Amino acid sequence: MADEADSKMLVRETFPAVERIADDDLRAGVVEAWTIALTETGWDLAEVPWFPPLQEEWGLPNERTVPHVRDVVAASEALAAAMAERGAQLSTDLVRSGALVHDISKLYEFAPPDGEATAIHDLLGHPNYGVVPAARAGLPPAVLHVVLAHSQRTDVEPQTVEAEIVTRADRVAARLIRARSER
Ligand SMILES: [Fe+2]
Repeated sequence: MADEADSKMLVRETFPAVERIADDDLRAGVVEAWTIALTETGWDLAEVPWFPPLQEEWGLPNERTVPHVRDVVAASEALAAAMAERGAQLSTDLVRSGALVHDISKLYEFAPPDGEATAIHDLLGHPNYGVVPAARAGLPPAVLHVVLAHSQRTDVEPQTVEAEIVTRADRVAARLIRARSER
């Protein structure tokens, strides 16, 4: 298994948006959350599946979390930038950080190497457990809320504009995956 410094470098290389987080603590927290999750689960980052139950239903065995997270980050950043340009009061750093860690529970919900569902998936449900590594990495409640509220699999609704942006971006990105099964 890669050591911690290697994991941190891998996370930063895989998600260049990390470097666009202006706040030092948020940037370090995002890298730390991914590093904790990679170290604890043993996943090869590039191999983490997107969401095996839906992939099976939709006949898409090769969907992965990394390109999905990049999609969600890109869509979230674009939406946040458009609104900020129009004078909206929002934190681009929170949007970016939340988008980067929103699906981190996937590493715990599905076990390497085949993506078999774990007790965390079966008993806790996406995305509740994502809050755990994100909190342990020192990320603040506003980011944990993005993680918790982004999925319809909890009854926590987005309470902040940042969480709303990531939730909507995730919905669009997930719909694009589904569209690939309909071609
Ligand atoms: Fe997602």
